[in-house]
Amino acid sequence: MMTHSPLSPLLSLCAFLSGLVLSMTPAISQPVYSERVMSLLRQMSLEEKAGQLNLQAGHDPDVDLQSRAPISSPLVEQAIREGKVGGVLNIAGAGNTRQLQLVATTQSRLKIPLLIGLDVVHGFRTIFPVPIGQAASFNLDLIGAAERVAAIEATASGINWTFAPVLDMARDPRWGRMVETAGESPWYTAAIARTRVQSLQGLHLSDPSSMLACAKHFVGNGATEGGREYTGANLSFRSMRDNELPPFEAAIGAGIGCIMPAFNAVDGVPGIVNKRMLSDVLRKELQFTGLVVTDHGAIAELPFHGVADNLVDASLAALTSGVDMDMASMGFGPFLPDAVRSGALNGDLLDQAVLRVLSVKERLGLLDDPFARHDQRREQMLLGHPDHLLLARQFAEESLVLLKNDHALLPFKRSARSIALIGPFGADQDHLMGPWEAAGIHRDVVSLREGMTRILPHITIRTVTTGYEDKADPKALAQAVAAARASDLIVLALGEKAMDSGEASSRANPGLPGQQLALLKAVARLGKPFAVVVIAGRPMIEPALYARSTAVVQAWFPGSQGGEAIARLLFGLSEPVGRLPVSIVRSIGQIPLTHDKRSTGRPSPGPPEAWASGYIDEATTPLYPFGYGLAYTQFNYSAPMIINADEADARTYRIKVTVKNTGERAGTTLVQLYTHQRLATIAQPEKQLRGFTRLYLNPGEQADAIISLNRDDLSYWSTDTNRQAAQGWIDLMTGPNAADTKTTALFVR
Ligand code: GLC
Repeated sequence: MMTHSPLSPLLSLCAFLSGLVLSMTPAISQPVYSERVMSLLRQMSLEEKAGQLNLQAGHDPDVDLQSRAPISSPLVEQAIREGKVGGVLNIAGAGNTRQLQLVATTQSRLKIPLLIGLDVVHGFRTIFPVPIGQAASFNLDLIGAAERVAAIEATASGINWTFAPVLDMARDPRWGRMVETAGESPWYTAAIARTRVQSLQGLHLSDPSSMLACAKHFVGNGATEGGREYTGANLSFRSMRDNELPPFEAAIGAGIGCIMPAFNAVDGVPGIVNKRMLSDVLRKELQFTGLVVTDHGAIAELPFHGVADNLVDASLAALTSGVDMDMASMGFGPFLPDAVRSGALNGDLLDQAVLRVLSVKERLGLLDDPFARHDQRREQMLLGHPDHLLLARQFAEESLVLLKNDHALLPFKRSARSIALIGPFGADQDHLMGPWEAAGIHRDVVSLREGMTRILPHITIRTVTTGYEDKADPKALAQAVAAARASDLIVLALGEKAMDSGEASSRANPGLPGQQLALLKAVARLGKPFAVVVIAGRPMIEPALYARSTAVVQAWFPGSQGGEAIARLLFGLSEPVGRLPVSIVRSIGQIPLTHDKRSTGRPSPGPPEAWASGYIDEATTPLYPFGYGLAYTQFNYSAPMIINADEADARTYRIKVTVKNTGERAGTTLVQLYTHQRLATIAQPEKQLRGFTRLYLNPGEQADAIISLNRDDLSYWSTDTNRQAAQGWIDLMTGPNAADTKTTALFVR
């Protein structure tokens, strides 16, 4: 049994560092501010204090950021010179940012360095799979190594703050930002949160390769009504406790330095004025002492919510609710000084927010060396380093989920002479990086066609790029069918464009846009087997896609090396190890449907049953369950056995599952552990993911998987404020996915 895909030396170092950090991160420090920070505060005017709380674009209006040309920002520089700016966002480049830092530290009165933030969500220049694809790898080491590379590259370009990780729960594929999440399991999202925070912030925040991480969007951002972006969520406080808060608790426990409240309102209270969450929970209960920054323009949106009359009211409401920095509403500077003078605002609140900003700058090392992250030589050397590209390809490979593979169509035989590559994404370089491409460069993206050419230089590839248009194009359709008819192999590269995913991209019908379904059906009518590769930020809810295709690979947005990764999988140079971090429903009407749903008084296991919970026209099971994914071989799982069941006061239980590779190829399986508290004061979910481990087995090989179950993970919220320890019978279920499990029972005293 061997572990998977050994990393190259540099990447092993990244993985080691992120692992080392896992164990050494200091606990949250109390807000004791240094004399240097206190002294700065004492020197500041009210205007300069309000200026430190202002986060604005680092470039003047109408600048083409994709041009990568040097950016000059005279208007921004003047505002910095006047002490009106505490941080800038959406500018990158060691040179561009150095210029702004120079103005701040040599031409403003108090010479306070800038925070420089960007959405580095899944890579900076080297773009890794989107977070939902990263989650599909169920490989925390890879996630940590990729975040370390992202931090190394971004800080080399002057960035000292990323607005990531996204810790929203994603239970509705209509919501476009599922792409940025870790899926539907709060427990798994919390595990990923710890890894991301510690890899982004490094061992010490002052290290030039570390950057401030910012967990977002606090809290309940993904629970939007109807999956519509920015709409409100109706969540009970317990639901927040069970589902939405655990990832943020994990991030805070890991030492995260920043939190971003959500745009949306939960139970009618917008995130940035939710005092209960921002003060009672975040500051008092979770002891968070870091920085709270609004989302982009969120303060200016309060009048639209109907909870503030104008920008003055909104700015005061946000600051008094617990916000420290205002991203892009531009209300703090003009209004806070006068509010303090008039007594409308307690000056201590202003000072508290300024101290948090200055303290973060000090922890980043900016007060000692503001130029440590503006070294153009380092930038030149590190961005897009071959080792980073290798890691991105390996990560993309492990993000791919094989959903269907009838007649073992995949892996293709490498002896094939020709392949038809049909659909909008076969030769695409513009969408594989997904909606948050940071400093990724489209021309550097390896397309699927390029990936195929790299591994099979002599194969004939007939590319027909069509399908996304709104109107049918009979000529292109005929070309596609002719290419399929003439080729040994057929691959359809279908899905959604990068900007049809992500923020403000909710879709009422999250299926295949345009003419792609018609294209698929036309090829299917040939009667030849074909594989579909789905490029998207969410699963496509499209029954015919799965029913009519011979094989389906969910590739998400696989990143800048994605094309080669997909090609390697299709031709068997790598194997499918990805598993679903979200359930794939059969129809939109089933949404939300997740593995951790609760039972009912009339449980219905699947097909419609009279007088039972469910539908009369649809099953109550997903098409593909959470944790699902095929391999290129088959496995047999034993029932779980609790190795230390008799240890009455065990803090950790060790569960053993014996697995055998019963197929003809070596392969990897993800052994998953789910738990269910049978009897509780509050009905508990039927299944909750509580552990997983990988096994790589040769044909015929058998091995034991051991999964550790932390007893604390069995507790649950019995009231809004009481965490109930597990007691009584707990079902422990193990298997290759949430719907295919075997059970044993554990009695906890
Ligand atoms: C966006 C997003 C947020 C992002 C911010 C800055 O509106 O909601 O996640 O960090 O603006 O780009």
